[in-house]
Order: sequence, then structure tokens, then C-alpha cells
Amino acid sequence: MQKNYGVKFLSFSGALPSKVVKNTDLEKLFDTSDEWIYTRTGIKQRHVIDKNESGLSLSVDAAKQALNKAKIDPKSIDLIIVCTATPDKLYPSMSCMLQGKIGAVNSACFDLSAACSGFIFGMTVASQFIYTGQYKNILLVGVDIHSRFVDWSERSVAVLFGDGAGAIVMSSCLAKDDELKGFILRSESDSKLDLTLDNDNIYFTDLQDQVKPDFVRMNGKAIYQFALRVVPEIAKELLDKTNMSMEQIDYLVLHQANQRIIDAVAEKLKVGKDKVLSNIEKVGNTSAASIPLAIVDALASNKIKTPSTMLLIGFGAGLTWGAAVIECNILK
Ligand code: ACO
Repeated sequence: MQKNYGVKFLSFSGALPSKVVKNTDLEKLFDTSDEWIYTRTGIKQRHVIDKNESGLSLSVDAAKQALNKAKIDPKSIDLIIVCTATPDKLYPSMSCMLQGKIGAVNSACFDLSAACSGFIFGMTVASQFIYTGQYKNILLVGVDIHSRFVDWSERSVAVLFGDGAGAIVMSSCLAKDDELKGFILRSESDSKLDLTLDNDNIYFTDLQDQVKPDFVRMNGKAIYQFALRVVPEIAKELLDKTNMSMEQIDYLVLHQANQRIIDAVAEKLKVGKDKVLSNIEKVGNTSAASIPLAIVDALASNKIKTPSTMLLIGFGAGLTWGAAVIECNILK
């Protein structure tokens, strides 16, 4: 495609709720053990929102940090995209509510739903507005609050998720300096509903007077196999497309669904552990926030060098999956 401008990543930020739920806390809720959870998922703890917190409050926190680091006035933001599958309200959108909280009065706003792939889908959608010259500064947020949507008595799903938000500011630069080296997005209708969160259980004819939220339902084995099938494949496809080799990638940043998936993909791609970012042990699966939170964690703990080249891959409900190669010039 003809690019009039390039994309520059100005900042990465994240926000986590203050309440920490350890595996040992879950042992009190249902029949499980820290050992089972850790060996199957790599998770030791997750953060969950408390009564004074919400998806919006985490988004505001992450967005304000991202704007400060980028030294961008909220009024200079042209577009806000919030990627989420667990919005606080069906409407108004999270992005419109966020706009009001941060004073980004000149921005257009919309939410994007691609579950755990949301951040990659959002990044590539944002890039199109920058490439065409339509917008100069875009705030992208990935946020999910699965603690509201898991059945806390159902051990196979409840152990996996944590709440969190990640935010980045993307700006336009000269086309030759483009830091988004390439991307691929894919989707495949989940006809067997291996990963669902229903919102279709209320009917006029039932005259229900109470909204009954449903919970995340997952066929864990099917999702594991899906990830192992598509993630290595899209990685190779994107490297081919960008004329790069895995040796040129400094860090592999996968959606933090499960450490076993991360390890198995890294093995298939023959990528050493030192090149694979992971913070799932501390935060669980934070869905649309997981990729930015993994990068923020690695930057904050000086685990990675910058500038660096990163291969980011998201995968999740839909089914959806997507990959992007980016240059990361951010220091912290
Ligand atoms: N604690 C203790 N025992 C448990 C737990 C638990 N939390 N959960 C399930 N078990 C039991 C099961 O009941 C079963 O017992 P049984 O043999 O008596 O029937 C046994 O453990 C094995 O259950 P499996 O479902 O076969 O467990 P498995 O080893 O497959 O691990 C897991 C489950 C971790 C979910 C695995 O399928 C997996 O890694 N799936 C990938 C899916 C994933 O990571 N999804 C993340 C969210 S989706 C996304 O982000 C895209």
C-alpha cells in the first residue's frame, strides 16, 4: 500500500487493579491447588478490580500515563480506540467515556471487539488512519475485566483470567521511519463456540425482570490446539511478508493466554527463552491488555534492550488472530 506517513510508537503504559488474588486464595473457593494452576498455566496470581475500580478507571490510568510519557496534550488526540470484549456498558462505548475523563475533546472514538487479539487489531486499524494522513495522534487502549464474567465456582476457567489495561500513543512520522514493519490479521468463525461469553439470554416473552449475566465458557483443549496451529503459522507468514528472519526479531511477545502455549509456540519457532516476554505469572491472562502489559513489565524491569524489533502475536475468541512486527524505541 502507498503510505503517505509512517507510524511512530511514542509510549507504552499499563494499569492493574490493586487487589491481588493468589492461587492459594482460589484454593479456598474451589477444589484446586497452586501446583495444578502453576504447572498447567504458569500463573501464580492475578489482579482483579474492587468496588471503586472498573474497566474505565484502569483505562483512564493507563491512558493518562501513556499521554504523559508521550508528552502529548489530550486535546491533540485525533482518535481513541478502546479494544475490549468486556466493556463496562454496552453503550456508551468505553472510548467515549474515556474521552470525557481525559479531556480529549477533539477525538473521534470507537470500541473494537476482537477479544484477546484486540490490541493487534486495534494497532493495525489505527495505523491505516495514520498512513493515509487522516489522523496524526491516536490513543489505543486494550482493556479487559474478566473477573466480572467468569464463574468463580468453575475451576477450569476461573484460574486463568486477570483484569488490566494497556495504552499506547501512536503518532505519524515520515513514511521512511515507519515503526510498524508489517502485519497480518486473520479470522475464522468459531462455529463450535469453543470460546464464548453469551449476552443473548434475555427475551421479552420471558418477561424477565433481572438481567442474568452469563460466564466465559471454554473448551480448553480446542483453544490450546487452535493457538498451536495458527500462531507459529502466522509468525512465519509475517516474517516472509516483511523479508525478515526470526534472528532479526529481538523479542517475541505473544498474547499471555497460558505459559504452556507460550512455551510450545516458542519451541515450534525455535526461539530461545531469553527472547520471549512473559508476565503471566504475575497477572494471569488479561486478554486485550496482555501484549502491552507484557511490554510495559519488561521495560519497567529492564529485561529488554531498546531500540528493539518485536514480533507481537494475539489470538483469541472469534476466532481471531493477528501479528505485527514493530520497532520499539521507547526507553520506559
Ligand atoms: N484445578 C484442579 N483441577 C482442575 C482445574 C483446576 N483449576 N481445572 C480443571 N481441573 C481438572 C479437570 O476437572 C480434569 O479432571 P478429571 O481428569 O478428573 O476430569 C483435569 O483437571 C484435567 O482437565 P483438563 O481440562 O484436561 O486440563 P488440561 O490439562 O487440559 O488443562 C487448560 C486445562 C489449562 C485450560 C488447558 O486446556 C489449556 O491450557 N488450554 C488452553 C486454553 C487457554 O489457555 N485459554 C486461555 C483463555 S482463552 C485465550 O486467551 C485465547
